Amino acid sequence: MSSNKPIPLEIKSYTVWDRPTRLFHWINVILVLALTLVGGIMMYKTELGITELSGKIGLKTLHVYIGYGFALNLLVRLVWGFIGNKYARFSHMFPNTNSKSELQAYKTELAAGKTPQYLGHNPKGKFAVFAIMLLLVIIMLTGLFRAGTDIYYPPLGSTIQSYLADTNVDPAGLKPYDDAGVNAEKASAIKPIKGLAGEIHIYGVYLLLLLILLHLFAVIYTEVKRQPGIISAMFSGNKLIQGQPKDE
Ligand code: HEM
Repeated sequence: MSSNKPIPLEIKSYTVWDRPTRLFHWINVILVLALTLVGGIMMYKTELGITELSGKIGLKTLHVYIGYGFALNLLVRLVWGFIGNKYARFSHMFPNTNSKSELQAYKTELAAGKTPQYLGHNPKGKFAVFAIMLLLVIIMLTGLFRAGTDIYYPPLGSTIQSYLADTNVDPAGLKPYDDAGVNAEKASAIKPIKGLAGEIHIYGVYLLLLLILLHLFAVIYTEVKRQPGIISAMFSGNKLIQGQPKDE
């Protein structure tokens, strides 16, 4: 007698996130939190009783040191986006010419009550990851620029000192937040660019924090309702998938 019971789909384990991708992710989480904390203290320093110039410069220097770790981690990841495994590569992670139709197909399947499984990011996730990466790069570039203009730190610090130093003044002798030896005209010439970089940096951070909240919500929702195991995969590197993944 034959049974009409459906045969359960096989569950298979796939190695998805390679070690460098996982390391980048968790180091980035820690450093973004630390930078947000120190950046927040910088914003509310007066309210927190930090009124001395040395305190202001000290906070900025600490922020910049943590920022170097953040920038280095991000630069390694940007290289890994070209040489890492299939799922770490930008060609797989970021939206491309097929993304519109993939997104449509994904929405149609969800509307039909199905739960499509992905090894990499799902079509919506690809847009979110692209936006987050882009913001990280913008925040890094504007932060490094302000590290140069504000406290004369690398990579641009010495170039900015050379530009700002008055005739017959040793550029290396210029001190942060000290007008001595600074050419006033040149200082006011870079002021608007410095201001713009600062604005882009801070609004980039606000937008990043908003996207991080959405990312957390989306990951938890997907984990609970659609594809269990996506959170543990960022620790173990492996995803357990029942049936055929969409992007093998
Ligand atoms: C996701 C990473 C980052 C976050 C969340 C972050 C956060 C912040 C915040 C909240 C401020 C505002 C402080 C204020 O207005 O007083 C700030 C300013 C600043 N950040 Fe970052 N930052 C990040 C990355 C970096 C990096 C990579 C660098 C450079 C290595 C950097 C250098 C600076 C500098 C120099 C300022 C002072 C700008 C100013 O006074 O307007 N930041 N950052």
